[in-house]
Amino acid sequence: MITLIESIESKICTLIESKISIVGSKVIMALTGACLTMFILIHLLGNMQLYAGRDIFNSYPELLRNFPISLWFARILLIFTFISHISMAVYLERKNKLSRIIQYNNELIPIGSSFASRTMLYSGFVIIAFVLFHLIHLTWKCFYVQNPNLDLYSLMIVSFRNPFITIFYILAQISLFLHLSHGFSSAAQTLSLTRNKLAKNIRLFGFWFAFIVTILYISIPVSILLRVIHD
Ligand code: HEM
Repeated sequence: MITLIESIESKICTLIESKISIVGSKVIMALTGACLTMFILIHLLGNMQLYAGRDIFNSYPELLRNFPISLWFARILLIFTFISHISMAVYLERKNKLSRIIQYNNELIPIGSSFASRTMLYSGFVIIAFVLFHLIHLTWKCFYVQNPNLDLYSLMIVSFRNPFITIFYILAQISLFLHLSHGFSSAAQTLSLTRNKLAKNIRLFGFWFAFIVTILYISIPVSILLRVIHD
């Protein structure tokens, strides 16, 4: 299994290396990160309609499904952006690892990775696992199969009354917070803004943006669990 993952990783890296420079891949990473952040914001606005009641909330996915071509175009774009972002992350992490190998007494010794890059990698893995579960849970509705006719609003109510699901969602949103706030710092670094006031402002904006988005996302399952939002 590990050899298979290593071989996929190595193939991705060779392919990217033959086509794009390190600076180019950092720029793609920042741009795809910005697109995914836009999706996260739009998705949050759609989900906040839950506070407006069942009819308004259920009309949002229905409206999307009335435009199947646009919906599939957006989905394919999202999948492509997600895969590009992950591939660049794998490639840059591998490059980083190689650049941290130092020579000592004719031996090559790897030195530790930075806290920020480790956090980005681990929170990234948690987000991938979360998105997979999330699709099974709310898009394909394969989790609560006892009642396949539940509308989306009722499915959310039934799901988040379960404290385990709510806790899982909260932990995933905390990972999203770590990933988003570090992502803004990395983007500022990529744009070579590390030393000036603009970089500091981007970092500060990134922190508060990630914090507010996370709190609003977390408010949804917590409001359902505490019965602020109910049937
Ligand atoms: C508490 C947090 C969240 C809630 C309550 C929530 C809710 C939902 C709901 C209800 C759907 C189904 C929409 C439909 O089928 O029409 C959905 C789909 C989706 N969600 Fe979330 N979401 C949350 C967080 C996230 C996050 C953080 C991400 C990304 C990192 C995400 C990514 C997606 C994706 C990719 C889909 C599938 C969209 C599609 O193809 O139709 N969600 N979400």
